[in-house]
Amino acid sequence: MKSFLQEYPNSTGARFIHLLKAELHARPEWEPHRQSYCGRILSLCIGGYHNAKDKMPTFASSSSASSRFSTSLDRLFNFYNGRDYDTYLPLLPQTDSTTVHGVRHFRDTEHAIVNLGTSKACLPLMLAAASIDPKVGIVIELGPFAGFSSKCAAYGILAAMQNITNGQEEDSPARLFSFDTFDGDVNYYALTRKGAWIKDMYPDFSKQNSSFVQLWRDTVQHVYPQAKSVVGCINTTAVNDDVIQNLSGSSKLIPQLLIVDTVKTSKLLHEHLGGLTIHAGTVLFLMDFQRSKHLVQQIYGCFRPKYLLPVYISWNNEHVAFVVTRTLSVNEPDIFQCYLELAKVNFQTTAFHTHLMKTRMEQDLMFLSGLTTNAAIHERFREGLRDKTLQAMNKALDEQDEWTWRVLSGLGDRS
Ligand SMILES: C[S@@+](CC[C@H](N)C(=O)[O-])C[C@H]1O[C@@H](n2cnc3c(N)ncnc32)[C@H](O)[C@@H]1O
Repeated sequence: MKSFLQEYPNSTGARFIHLLKAELHARPEWEPHRQSYCGRILSLCIGGYHNAKDKMPTFASSSSASSRFSTSLDRLFNFYNGRDYDTYLPLLPQTDSTTVHGVRHFRDTEHAIVNLGTSKACLPLMLAAASIDPKVGIVIELGPFAGFSSKCAAYGILAAMQNITNGQEEDSPARLFSFDTFDGDVNYYALTRKGAWIKDMYPDFSKQNSSFVQLWRDTVQHVYPQAKSVVGCINTTAVNDDVIQNLSGSSKLIPQLLIVDTVKTSKLLHEHLGGLTIHAGTVLFLMDFQRSKHLVQQIYGCFRPKYLLPVYISWNNEHVAFVVTRTLSVNEPDIFQCYLELAKVNFQTTAFHTHLMKTRMEQDLMFLSGLTTNAAIHERFREGLRDKTLQAMNKALDEQDEWTWRVLSGLGDRS
């Protein structure tokens, strides 16, 4: 991390690390606290240590306050929109609760935003988006679903823009592009299961007519009108450097934050991200990292430590953020060569490679516990979160086999 910060001190990644240190890792024991609130009191989940600690006793003991704050994300976000801005944290709550009275009401204010487990990642997503350089950077999101993660990023972008627009946001180019099919049976069932109110707001929404792009727009664009939804199936033709350049128009902006919630397997990593050059200093969020054991193997086998440095993990809830330490394309020959080398390793008879990956991963998890190499790890944190994650990731790394690595190396022939 030290060398990354030295080499890229003005990068999105470096700014993100500083914000994480201040907001999430100020005290390691705070993070499990924050996360445990994510299913119940969103204000504490999104607020983070510095902002929520003063409010916690009141919120925690008042059920009416908790339901009030968790039912409407817009109110919540606005609640955070405190009046005393400092450079990076204009979105987070100030201790003065009178800002609640400044809440604006939007058309979807009465509805929670449907999301699939993203709440823990909302604060880090905001912080990452607040870290882009708004003069040259944009945020690319693959798989926003109904727009919860997009909205977290949108608030972060607005924070980043505060310094350059002087309130003239209307004239500025789009800095958030969210790609999704915004359609399909699986999404239809997820939306109707979680948000019965959607049918009231969109009477035409049905299994046969399941596009929900308007829902995404309504959710995100009233906060950040320039945000763009890009409808279609994600692959290297739909998402690549040229497409991004065309979308950003004459301003030629480059992706500085990638939020990826479509990649659930190691193969999809190549199909969905293969068209993009991912520049050193970028922040890469993999939203379902632990879901696929092969993805864990692939990242620890061939991407870490050469290209990626983890800086945030939501522990037992899958989201991981990396800073990119060296410019990469996931479909570069050296990645496939690395898979091929691993296919030649007999994981049954030699534990050497697995041991290397595990050691690296364990060091990462130690480090993420406090975002410092010599953190005094709080007992609750260790038992509650880190050990569980360690077990799950160790298991994934234990289950490596030749076949997986051969299949992965074969993808190189097709890319
Ligand atoms: C887990 S959901 C995303 C949740 C979202 N980030 C949130 O905060 O609530 C995954 C999304 O990825 C989209 N998706 C998956 N594969 C895709 C593909 N190949 N092309 C386009 N969209 C895809 C799905 O339509 C779905 O909306």
